[in-house]
Amino acid sequence: MKNLKGKIAVVTGAGSGMGRCMTLQLLEKGAIVIATDKNSETLNETKSMAPNGEIHVFTVDAAKENEINAFAKKIIKQFGYIDILINNAGFALGKIALKDVKMEDFKLLMDVNVWGVINHTKAFIDVLLERPEASIVNISSLFGITGLSEQVPYCTTKFAVRGFSESLRMEMIGSNVVVTCVHPGGIKTNIAKNSINYGQEELLEKFEKNLLRIPAEEAARQIIQSIQKKQERLLIGIEVEIADRIVRSFPVKYSGIIKTVYDKMLNAKLKS
Ligand SMILES: NC(=O)c1ccc[n+]([C@@H]2O[C@H](COP(=O)([O-])OP(=O)(O)OC[C@H]3O[C@@H](n4cnc5c(N)ncnc54)[C@H](O)[C@@H]3O)[C@@H](O)[C@H]2O)c1
Repeated sequence: MKNLKGKIAVVTGAGSGMGRCMTLQLLEKGAIVIATDKNSETLNETKSMAPNGEIHVFTVDAAKENEINAFAKKIIKQFGYIDILINNAGFALGKIALKDVKMEDFKLLMDVNVWGVINHTKAFIDVLLERPEASIVNISSLFGITGLSEQVPYCTTKFAVRGFSESLRMEMIGSNVVVTCVHPGGIKTNIAKNSINYGQEELLEKFEKNLLRIPAEEAARQIIQSIQKKQERLLIGIEVEIADRIVRSFPVKYSGIIKTVYDKMLNAKLKS
């Protein structure tokens, strides 16, 4: 989909981070953006930052199937179709062992990070299949490539997004719909601030300062380029490229290797 001018794109989680940057960059390229978030205040901030262009904002909670279906119905009635669906809304939990995780938090994470992606896709798949070219972009993670201790819930959701995307991609062979699964590494966004953090403010500061390096604008640029190039798998950041190779080379032993490296990086002296 080389030319994005006039294309209609739904972006979820558009009130912050990568979702906000993708929204602004899509508008710059002439796309019509339907931006959603559960936080109407930050969503309206995104709208106020938008360059000239057509942006429509809707408050939608990605954890709620009924809200997603009502939203999709409204959009299809108003616009007739969409060309691009970017399933970006998501959040994380702090570093927490499975034995200590609150199950209500794990379930909410599944509702947003997994069911949000599935329900949005299901709600728009029919109209996407009718377009001459269409794109579904699902944001997984580095943690949809490698498991990580004390991140069992988050990894579970991001592996699910990958499984959903890769199966759907196969199902879409021969159709006009391209399914892209994105695996970002550490992107400078509000992901740590917006997490359910179990009171681990200090740890989250370390996480934010030591591991979130790539500007959200750069991640958004790469994701939009992947839509234009019909690229079906996108790894963002050298750490993802390296982890991908380690996991493929040592499918079991990688646990020890990656745990050591990750803990060292996380606990390195705080960068100012
Ligand atoms: N930042 C990173 O390092 C990183 C790495 C890999 C993957 N990701 C993924 O990228 C996506 C975007 O995250 P980000 O880093 O830009 O974080 P962010 O916190 O800056 O933005 C996430 C946005 O999603 C919204 N959101 C959260 N729950 C929602 C819900 N129930 N309904 C609707 N909107 C909801 C938030 O309000 C927020 O505006 C997420 O899926 C995240 O898991 C982020």
